[in-house]
Amino acid sequence: MTLNYQFPKNFWWGSAASATQTEGSNNGVKGKDIWDHWYATEPNRFFENVGPDTTSDFYNRYQEDIKNMKSIGHNTFRMSISWARLIPGGVGKVNDDAVIFYNNVINELIANDIEPFVNLFHFDMPLELQDQGGWENRDVVEAYVNYANEAFRLFGDRVKTWFTFNEPIVPVEGGYLYDFHYPNVVDARKAIQVGYHTMIAHAKAVQAYHQTQDGKIGIVLNLTPSYPRSQNPADLKASHICDLFFNRSFLDPAVKGEYPADLISLLEEYGHLPHTEEGDKELLKENTVDLLGVNYYQPRRVQAKAHLPNPYGPFMPDWFFDNYEMPGRKMNPYRGWEIYEKGIYDIMINLKENYGNIESFISENGMGVQNEERFLKDGRIEDDYRIEFIKEHLKWLHKSITEGCNVKGYHLWTFMDNWSWSNAYKNRYGFFSVNLATQERTAKKSASWFADVSKQNGFND
Ligand code: BG6
Repeated sequence: MTLNYQFPKNFWWGSAASATQTEGSNNGVKGKDIWDHWYATEPNRFFENVGPDTTSDFYNRYQEDIKNMKSIGHNTFRMSISWARLIPGGVGKVNDDAVIFYNNVINELIANDIEPFVNLFHFDMPLELQDQGGWENRDVVEAYVNYANEAFRLFGDRVKTWFTFNEPIVPVEGGYLYDFHYPNVVDARKAIQVGYHTMIAHAKAVQAYHQTQDGKIGIVLNLTPSYPRSQNPADLKASHICDLFFNRSFLDPAVKGEYPADLISLLEEYGHLPHTEEGDKELLKENTVDLLGVNYYQPRRVQAKAHLPNPYGPFMPDWFFDNYEMPGRKMNPYRGWEIYEKGIYDIMINLKENYGNIESFISENGMGVQNEERFLKDGRIEDDYRIEFIKEHLKWLHKSITEGCNVKGYHLWTFMDNWSWSNAYKNRYGFFSVNLATQERTAKKSASWFADVSKQNGFND
């Protein structure tokens, strides 16, 4: 029997999570990262004052969680390694306790026929390295490459799909532009340098991987298609610049090995080019990714600024465009983000037409919901809105595949409700809910729906 939405054979069905958000910073031996530090110094910056020590305890319960993943048909799962856990302090000796833990998790996944996808950096800079300037400081690039090499050496015999960074633009936006991550700096010049050093670190890790290992390595980018308010030239230009800053500043160097010429000339015009070193250009050019993870949550809608550029105040990307609230746009009423399912198709078509049809997959997509307990019925969360959300996105993803896009899978954010940076437990995304007092996991309705989809490799509608 063929289904209306039948996905290609061996499609990757799964979900994603990250170390800091699930393991519990007080579990096992771990160095401090910026989240431990920021929470210790400014707990009131976190929703309901809840920090990274209050998690879903994956560190102790991974066996149960992996069993649950298997029960809902996962064949792949993306996790991250905590740099500060593997190498406390960021440089120096590997922590044996962490090696045992990550080996156990990886082996358990494989024993359950779930292929581990491993990401190296998910917003969690070791504190000692942040104290030396974090990504502002080029020396940190070498520390990162050393960490990456240790991870490849320790786990590369079993892990064949790696990612260097998750959403590298987020620490730039959060830490250096809009004050929602530590170190809470607002300085576009530093932001640009931080973004640049991240991509140098990325390219060096790709190079090291290809020199020593035999799997695939990529990067996970949050792509937010930029839609102009109208087709008039000013709106089109605003949307183009927004796309340069928020998508192509990472997408182009990762996949094409070079920054967009328009972005370089814009930064040059405003005197904001980053410091580079000899050989950087070649490094980027020669070390492009094997595959791309795409995180898609919402689009950006953009219009021209009334006065362009704003001559007052320090340089910011926002000089060049305004956000636009399109009347009638569909919203997630429980999180506040726009829902635009076709965005997933537009991204994939763009990758096909302009990025050599690079192998890709949806590495995160999901629906955050506040106070989700309100949908509790007979002990289970009846999240029909999430089923609808996933289904509508999958339909567009399916269409992109039928049109030749090189899409290999779909991962939900996230497997079970987890702690999320300064939003802590405000927005719930999981297939499983977690009672933080008892650590009991309960499958939501979407979990059994997704189990059917992954087991049949598609669905009817
Ligand atoms: C993604 C991140 O961008 O958004 C995750 O990769 C994060 O780490 C997720 O948890 C949801 O964010 P929020 O703010 O809605 O909880």
